Amino acid sequence: MAIKNICCLGAGYVGGPTCSVIAWKCPDVKVTVVDLSVERIAQWNSEKLPIYEPLLDDVVKECRGKNLFFTNDVKSAILDADLIFISVNTPTKTFGNGKGRAADLKYVEGAARMIADIAQSDKIVVEKSTVPVRAAESIQNILYANNKPGVTYHILSNPEFLAEGTAINDLLHADRVLIGGEDSGAIEKLCKIYEHWIPRKNILTTNTWSSELSKLAANAMLAQRVSSINSLSAVCEATGADVSEVARAVGLDSRIGSKFLQASIGGSCFQKDILDLVYICECLNLPEVAAYWQQVIDMNEYQKSRFTAKVVRALFNTVSGKNIALLGFAFKKNTGDTRESPAIYVAKTLLDEGATLNIYDPKVEESQIFKDLTHPSICESPEQVRKTVKVCGDAYSATKGTHAIVVCTEWDEFMVLDYKKIYDGMMKPAFIFDGRKILDHEKLLEYGFHVQTIGKQLRKPTPPPRMTNNHHV
Ligand code: NAI
Repeated sequence: MAIKNICCLGAGYVGGPTCSVIAWKCPDVKVTVVDLSVERIAQWNSEKLPIYEPLLDDVVKECRGKNLFFTNDVKSAILDADLIFISVNTPTKTFGNGKGRAADLKYVEGAARMIADIAQSDKIVVEKSTVPVRAAESIQNILYANNKPGVTYHILSNPEFLAEGTAINDLLHADRVLIGGEDSGAIEKLCKIYEHWIPRKNILTTNTWSSELSKLAANAMLAQRVSSINSLSAVCEATGADVSEVARAVGLDSRIGSKFLQASIGGSCFQKDILDLVYICECLNLPEVAAYWQQVIDMNEYQKSRFTAKVVRALFNTVSGKNIALLGFAFKKNTGDTRESPAIYVAKTLLDEGATLNIYDPKVEESQIFKDLTHPSICESPEQVRKTVKVCGDAYSATKGTHAIVVCTEWDEFMVLDYKKIYDGMMKPAFIFDGRKILDHEKLLEYGFHVQTIGKQLRKPTPPPRMTNNHHV
């Protein structure tokens, strides 16, 4: 029997968009997305969705209440489902063995236990969360250890490759869909769902462990490219080469390709998965492999600290008492997600150095910015952060009267600001640090800014014209 009823555990950045697209493309399938968070579900059912993604509003509006439902009624959703996606979070462990590296699988385990408790009929259980290799085995063990007579489970791995900021487009035009599993019947049923819009040749089926590892491998190799170009950006700054020119020249080699060669401030959503890969390699007694991937993470950290040190150095080695504007707080454009955002690192360092900050991001809520900056791992005194950080409603008010601007996220709107007006409203000398390489540096220099960016040396601003004293001849 074809799948008619899908339940998704986890209404986050993956569960929400993925199920919205499935509902949109499969009008004959009922899709119910559940979450433990009452607030999150209420937002999914409101006018303002809990996450920002281009096109997501349109897709949700089209399907919600027809064949797409958001609810906290986990029990009914699991009972009714033929197929259940597990799309819960798998953050890095913050305690115990593997702290700071291993993936914390407590939410995945919690989801598996909920299914085991509730299910009364056969289920295909699909692991969509990014997990360590062989996590499906744990899910299977939990389900079978709590099995009720007559209930059969088939476990599949179906990792998600969408990128935040382009999630809907990525889901609609996926390069590939990957399904790992051992039961060809269950695999076929999930294939049929995706075949509503993905050509069959782009649906890849593998064994479960290959599927789980492929997701970690893909993220590791993407992160490795970013770390590689970032490492070269340091060489560019030291030599006078321009990393954009180098990236272009290198990327035109068809073996290398031009995508994902953009040097920047560092920081990405890949960190937790690479940390997990490193941890797995260590557990498998493969220390050389672990060290290799660890270096990718280290280079990312180095890039963030190198950039922030550059900001402090340029501002005459002290930012104490200086007011600095941070443009952008999300980890990338077109999302409001701040997890692992480099802006947090930049803000923390500048606050530690005694600066006061004005922060503006088009999609990150003020409450989220304060939540990130007052997290115990970031600050000792939340009151101090509240006193020294101001969240602003636009880039002009954020930059007014400041000593420097730091561009932390590549939002398109930052490219088209009136920088002459901004320059006029700032303290002098006015500095701008383009951590994303999106601005017209020559223009900024003409206006009088001191400009620094990644992977390129820039000339000094043109000095103001000398005053001539023409009337005393
Ligand atoms: P998220 O944190 O946005 O959402 C996870 C949701 O699961 C939360 O709302 C949480 O309340 C809910 N949850 C936890 N336990 C639950 C349970 N037992 N029942 C129902 N809901 C439960 O996380 P996100 O970003 O959606 O990530 C989910 C997984 O997908 C992670 O493993 C992540 O690594 C992976 N992934 C994330 C991508 C991204 O761009 N965010 C891309 C590809 C994969």
